Amino acid sequence: MLQIHEITALRAQVADWKHQGLRVGFVPTMGNLHDGHFALLELAKSRCERVVSSIFVNPTQFGPNEDYARYPRTEQRDIDGLARNGCDVAFLPSADVMYPFGIKNYVQMHVPGITDILCGAHRPGHFNGVATVVARLFNMVQPDAAVFGRKDYQQLQVIRYMTREMSFPVEIIAAPTLREASGLAMSSRNQYLSDDERITALEVFRTLQFMRDACIAGISSDHIEQQAFERLEAKGFEVDYAEIRAEDLGRLARARGNARVALIAAKLGRTRLIDNLEFEIIS
Ligand code: PAF
Repeated sequence: MLQIHEITALRAQVADWKHQGLRVGFVPTMGNLHDGHFALLELAKSRCERVVSSIFVNPTQFGPNEDYARYPRTEQRDIDGLARNGCDVAFLPSADVMYPFGIKNYVQMHVPGITDILCGAHRPGHFNGVATVVARLFNMVQPDAAVFGRKDYQQLQVIRYMTREMSFPVEIIAAPTLREASGLAMSSRNQYLSDDERITALEVFRTLQFMRDACIAGISSDHIEQQAFERLEAKGFEVDYAEIRAEDLGRLARARGNARVALIAAKLGRTRLIDNLEFEIIS
């Protein structure tokens, strides 16, 4: 596996592959890799002949009171993991490569509407930071396809919207959420959980299943959301939201079709967990 730090070298390598008619996949990450990331890589490899993965802890997607400084940097372990899992190029840009004019006066992406709800309402500016860095990465890597996890459902929708709106010639591939046997969705943040919290955290997936079943049974979403909220609070969570939305994250009143998604974001101690469950209602 090659390790590349500069844009020129990266583009030359990707252009060379494309000249050979090889399809290039891309998996962006912020490092601290776990099996969930390696599953994204696996999916990219199954759809593309060559795969680039980036490691960059993006400062512009963290709010002032969030854990940017505390975010675990495990670069050597991550590079070894990428190499072991068949990545062809690890792209490791510095902050100067990513934001050459610094992060005070930088060009930003803003995806309207969808970035102000759910996690966007609780983490103002977060999705602008994500969209900004993903747009830069698409421009640097110039992949044919990029893989994002369904676990970050709202992020996936933001990136799909931006890719379409900006005519980026990149196919967005959505990867299923990888869960531990207990049902806990894999996440870098799980490592912050104590043993007791890990057990309590299972209530997130159980509550999503309750929301799905109640929605399919025809119970009103207001009632379900209220019950979900109370269930999580009773277990000690500080709940940001527990909502059922249309597939595109629009309100149910305006939903077209039968695809729905239940979404939860809730803090357990200092750890903010997010998860979601997609399902179909019977019309
Ligand atoms: O999902 C992530 O790890 C990040 O939000 C991403 C897409 C790599 C952008 O920094």
